[in-house]
Amino acid sequence: MRLNLDAAAVPARLAGVEKFRIRGGAPLAGTVPVSGAKNAALPCLAATLLTAEPVRLEGLPRVRDIVTMERVLGTLGESCEHQNGATTITVGTIEGAHAPYELVRTMRASVLVLGPLLARRRRARVALPGGCAIGARPIDLHLQGLVRMGATITVQRGDVVAEAPGGLRGADITFPRITVTGTENLLMAATLAKGTTVLRNCAHEPEVVDLAELLAAMGARVHGAGSSTIVVEGVAELSGARHRIIPDRIEAGTYVTAALLAGRGVRIQGCRPQHLTAFLATLEESGARLEVDPDAIYVPPQDRPLRSTSVTTAEYPGFATDLQAQFLTLMTQAEGVSTVTEAIFENRFQHALELKRMGATIEVSGRLAKVWGPTPLQGTVVMASDLRASAALVLAALVAEGETIVDRIYHLDRGYEGMDAKLAALGACVERFNPGPFQ
Ligand code: EPU
Repeated sequence: MRLNLDAAAVPARLAGVEKFRIRGGAPLAGTVPVSGAKNAALPCLAATLLTAEPVRLEGLPRVRDIVTMERVLGTLGESCEHQNGATTITVGTIEGAHAPYELVRTMRASVLVLGPLLARRRRARVALPGGCAIGARPIDLHLQGLVRMGATITVQRGDVVAEAPGGLRGADITFPRITVTGTENLLMAATLAKGTTVLRNCAHEPEVVDLAELLAAMGARVHGAGSSTIVVEGVAELSGARHRIIPDRIEAGTYVTAALLAGRGVRIQGCRPQHLTAFLATLEESGARLEVDPDAIYVPPQDRPLRSTSVTTAEYPGFATDLQAQFLTLMTQAEGVSTVTEAIFENRFQHALELKRMGATIEVSGRLAKVWGPTPLQGTVVMASDLRASAALVLAALVAEGETIVDRIYHLDRGYEGMDAKLAALGACVERFNPGPFQ
């Protein structure tokens, strides 16, 4: 798989910006393997800051966000060694506490180091992430929770500066709205706090459960992860551990969508279909035929077009916002009028504008998108705006007439491991290219 992860270090004006050239219409067939979940791997990497002992993580996806998190850990004094598909994270002698803006601005999830740093090193300085392409995305709920646990927090020169010289203490905290990384940050912070922490209205996502499993392996006392209320009894210290990251449900859902659009029999192997219940139920409602095994989803050739469907994104176990863009592309090929409501983020329809440029009939009004299908799509040059939007454009290109150039593929590389290689192995005509600095 060709994935230039170090391109992040090279200024774009020198390196050029990588693009995909996709010729639509090639049938997809065969088996596609699912990588480890980026959004589980990120908090698990941050959790390594909670111990002085090495932690071995297996199945980390080789995607740009993971490389960025490894760089963040590097600035905090940890080193990451890769061997035989596993990464061992070891803390060095210098224990830093500053996650700088250059790294945080490229990945908001860097904020996940805040809780563990405060819990073990009792201080943290983490650049405040700005807004991003899908919405304002504040971190106020992370900060309020840490204050409830005894931290003093100020904002200095764009950095969140947090201190808890006497250590964090357990607290009873109710999230006013559900937040995935907020739940993860406070869960990590609570493992080393004095006393018991009760977190209410928590995110139920499988990635939270995966993190809790790593923390338990490190010696943390965590109960109820995956439900609304998580109880953490603080311990004095945590040990090293070994943990395998769960498969990426969003990557799996993206390939199921590709298979429905352009497949002639595709098996999505090494996933956990039980993490995709709402998504798969929606597909079945639209007439998709799927064969679900405990660790795989087979999408047979479909004998009739899909029907329009209406869906609203929701927190887990609802329909994932991270599959909304891909689903919108799918509905451009379904018969009838579909509606897609985005309930989690306020600005997550930028892909709709690019899909319209490819010929889709979509009307966006606030958080609602209405799609008229089926519409033939035509290849053109389209611009990726965020990770999942990029995936939606690649999916559209697979069924578009002629050639599509998907620009700014670095968004895709943040979260999909070798998508070009995986699609090409299924038979897609997809090529990664770099036009060079002056184009
Ligand atoms: N929110 C606040 N205040 C906070 C935190 C969140 O108002 O302090 C709001 C957000 O603005 C948003 C909503 O609460 O409107 C939910 O946001 P959440 O905090 O749950 O999102 P997140 O933790 O920042 C994670 C994933 C996202 C995924 C969302 C929702 C990671 C690293 N990121 O983000 O993944 O979309 O949960 O499921 O786990 C992606 O992979 O492409 C991606 C964006």
